Amino acid sequence: MFLKTDELREKFIKRSEELKAVSDVDQLRIEYLGKKGYVSALMQDLRNASAEEKKEAGKTINELKQFIESAIAEKIEILKKKEVQLLIDAAESYDESMPSSNDLGSYHPITLVKREVESIFTSMGFTVEDYSEITDDYNCFEALNIPPHHPARDMQDTYYLSSNQLLKTHTSAAQNTILRKYKNNLENGNPIRAIFPGRCFRNEKIDACHENTFFQMEGIMVDKDISVSNLIYFMKTMLSEVFQRDITVRLRPGFFPFVEPGFELDIQCLICGGTGCSSCKDSGWLELCPCGMIHPNVLTAAGIDPEKYTGFAFGLGLTRLAMMRYGVKDIRVFNSGNLKSLSQFTEKSFVNPESK
Ligand code: PHE
Repeated sequence: MFLKTDELREKFIKRSEELKAVSDVDQLRIEYLGKKGYVSALMQDLRNASAEEKKEAGKTINELKQFIESAIAEKIEILKKKEVQLLIDAAESYDESMPSSNDLGSYHPITLVKREVESIFTSMGFTVEDYSEITDDYNCFEALNIPPHHPARDMQDTYYLSSNQLLKTHTSAAQNTILRKYKNNLENGNPIRAIFPGRCFRNEKIDACHENTFFQMEGIMVDKDISVSNLIYFMKTMLSEVFQRDITVRLRPGFFPFVEPGFELDIQCLICGGTGCSSCKDSGWLELCPCGMIHPNVLTAAGIDPEKYTGFAFGLGLTRLAMMRYGVKDIRVFNSGNLKSLSQFTEKSFVNPESK
């Protein structure tokens, strides 16, 4: 009997060393510990043995059984680890030193222009604010001095949702929220300087120049003694940076209920330099950005005393800026989802007006 258990133990160790996969372990387990396995057979042999022998041999057989059980458990652990490692090795096709593929996609041209304008304004102390695309009548119109039935609403028909909500028609819809967010700054002697880019929606007849979904970037600055000259300074600086050259601007009167006085800011045509060409319809100027001094009613609606503080606001057409910057003649390209067109734009592909 002792001879047999020792022999079986040796045999088991040898067999288990040859195992290569977790799935092979079961076979071995059945051979040794199964109902008809070697260990049961040893037990069977004990049937005719004396009580003394049974006690002694039973102990030895049990030890063998325990040895096999724990050896099998250990073997499974080792083989599992090995199998995982084999999988990792097999998947080792990734090489971090390889150049990336050209098919990874590209940024949307409006994202590129937006980021550039953001970085210019943040360098001048402006914060970049986020605002939802869904808002309500109060924020989009009433807080901006546009009461119900005001004719200025005609230009800004939009998509109305149930629950009295609507898709914002301009980034000005965020003015009240942002003014409230920062109005305590003013009491502490700090100006409010913020830009808020966003997607806007209007009921438009779509053509090469009009879209029902487009991007704007609003900017506001409020402090003591802010005047139109501050507005002109910031706009000129930003545009000169965007177009990488000195930009000449002019202001024309423009009406928006939430600014007083209100302006249309034009830039001298980049293509002809002001002498007149087809791009500027021979006027020498391009309309770029409506702006003005924030109306006292708008400041009051946000809890800011218009006797103490003044500010300017502008609504830069980001989509329009991207068209000018890249020389895109049809606005529909931007929302087309046409990767062939949209993936051409990179930081380097801006139109160089000088080369035209
Ligand atoms: N929100 C206006 C529009 O979209 C633009 C604007 C912004 C005008 C800020 C003045 C000041 O038409």
